[in-house]
Amino acid sequence: MCGIVGYVGLHQAADVLLQGLSKLEYRGYDSAGIAVHQNGILTVKTKGRLADLKEKIEKTDTCLFGKIGIGHTRWATHGAPSDVNSHPHSSENGRISVVHNGIIENYMQLKEMLEQKGRKFVSETDTEIVAQLFDDCYNGDMVETMINVISQIRGAYALGVLCSEHPDQIVAVRKDSPLLVGLSEKENYIASDIPALLEYTRDYYLLEDNEIVLLKQDGVTLFDLNKNEIKKEVFHVTWDVSAAEKDGYDYFMMKEIVEQPEGLRKTIFPRLCDNGIQLDHISLTEEFVKNINRIHIVACGSAWHAAIVGKYVIEKISRIPVEVDLASEFRYRDPILNKNDLCIIVSQSGETADTLAALREAKKHGVRVLSIVNVVGSSIARESDDVLYTWAGPEIAVATTKGYSTQLSVMYLLAVYFGKAKQEISLQEQNQYITDLKKVPEDVKSLLELEERIKVLAKQYAQSKDVFVIGRGIDHAAAMEASLKLKEISYIHSEAYAAGELKHGTISLIEDGTLVVAIATQQTLFEKLVSNIKEVKARGANVVAITPRGNEAIEKVADEVFYIPEGNELFSASSTVVPMQLLAYYIAVERGCDVDKPRNLAKSVTVE
Ligand code: AGP
Repeated sequence: MCGIVGYVGLHQAADVLLQGLSKLEYRGYDSAGIAVHQNGILTVKTKGRLADLKEKIEKTDTCLFGKIGIGHTRWATHGAPSDVNSHPHSSENGRISVVHNGIIENYMQLKEMLEQKGRKFVSETDTEIVAQLFDDCYNGDMVETMINVISQIRGAYALGVLCSEHPDQIVAVRKDSPLLVGLSEKENYIASDIPALLEYTRDYYLLEDNEIVLLKQDGVTLFDLNKNEIKKEVFHVTWDVSAAEKDGYDYFMMKEIVEQPEGLRKTIFPRLCDNGIQLDHISLTEEFVKNINRIHIVACGSAWHAAIVGKYVIEKISRIPVEVDLASEFRYRDPILNKNDLCIIVSQSGETADTLAALREAKKHGVRVLSIVNVVGSSIARESDDVLYTWAGPEIAVATTKGYSTQLSVMYLLAVYFGKAKQEISLQEQNQYITDLKKVPEDVKSLLELEERIKVLAKQYAQSKDVFVIGRGIDHAAAMEASLKLKEISYIHSEAYAAGELKHGTISLIEDGTLVVAIATQQTLFEKLVSNIKEVKARGANVVAITPRGNEAIEKVADEVFYIPEGNELFSASSTVVPMQLLAYYIAVERGCDVDKPRNLAKSVTVE
């Protein structure tokens, strides 16, 4: 959950590094630093944001004119955010400088070994061990030394290394943490993610685990662990640069909320054809689908919420049993997987460590893996048997919105595809689902018009202590995502609860003025949900309801009602989440929170 960047070329490295880091702050932002090679290695680093680093650089009386360097923006794992714990880390003699994203699991043993050799450490981090170990192993050849170092470290890492004796090169490697190489004439780069380099180049090497990069101004060479040269395809990015810019919005999150209809259209429509659903580049045969016994959907966070909605929809339409697992649990519970199972991995970033590990666990059991991913060429995408991309475009805000909503739409596509393949639905039913699916982007777009009303509501509830979001069936799954949005950007404690479960304990927390959001779209459960609303009202709650047009009866019990367009209630989570995204956003703004970079969080959790 950190961002790393490296540059060698014709221009001042510091400028390129700082610009690249500004596009990686979403990956971690509690401290930052750069190291530049100029008559030895010069390092400037600080606790705080990139702005603090820039201020510190301006205050140094040294001009950073070097044309080769590395940079880092941190999400602390080992050691609190501080100047000394920030990256880059150096060897004691200053010969080696390292930036690192990931966790070195055996850093304590290595630290003891190096201390016995007389080396002194200054930080609490695992990364400093890499700098000292690299120096300890250094034999004059950066690639050979890197191979020796990674043979001794265990864990997840993307590493960029400078050496004062090699002022013309950076050596880098990745294992379980993302790293890519940016390529251009006379200038070459490394970075954790494409947005960092998009304004410099559209051509990349997407590194696989244990591929070592030697970066020089006049070229890039890749090696395997036996120091054999590797040839790779160049990956050409077609995004426009503005896709990774705020375009006048105060926060990326609002831009990405507004981009949802477009992302949904790009994700759904290319997969609709005259005779049904056509899943692009999928090698699942109809025979395989017909024989699927069980589907396991595995993910983290909001992707897990999408998975739970997926369970309801896929089971309802295809009658295939679906199990949903948190990735961090799945990999350790010795899951029961059979060859006729299908594992669906869901991840916006395609780099979440727990989710990637779950994918590998499923493959260890010989189970086919289909992933739903937003970042093209990401680790999860590359290791899956099949990938269904969500075409939401780059998502920068830490709190996902368009990533989640486009994941939902892929779940709907899969449900209808599986349902038809297993002959659980007729051609007519399939076509009706497709008609309903086509409506989703417009429904979501229409809900953006609630913004002004929600701004008022946000002011009313911005100081809430606890918020509860209740629902039944798919609405309960939708409530989970609604609740997380509120928690992660406004820091208000919030809980999603199955409405029928509230009375079994948690209702004791409801008191005068407690905000309860009731999501009520499942018609067969509507009356029961109304009863649950009455239960909390009787204990002093203020109730905001989200329900389809036509359910005006709810106005008799709720204090505020947001109507969503009528539609197929199996797809309702796509609509009910929008008012909650807007409410979370405006409450966070009202509370003066940093909406795009909430405290303690990072966009891609690439450590366990
Ligand atoms: C969602 O708003 C959070 N940022 C977080 O829960 C996220 O969904 C989770 O970390 C999974 O990320 P992924 O989809 O990139 O794997």
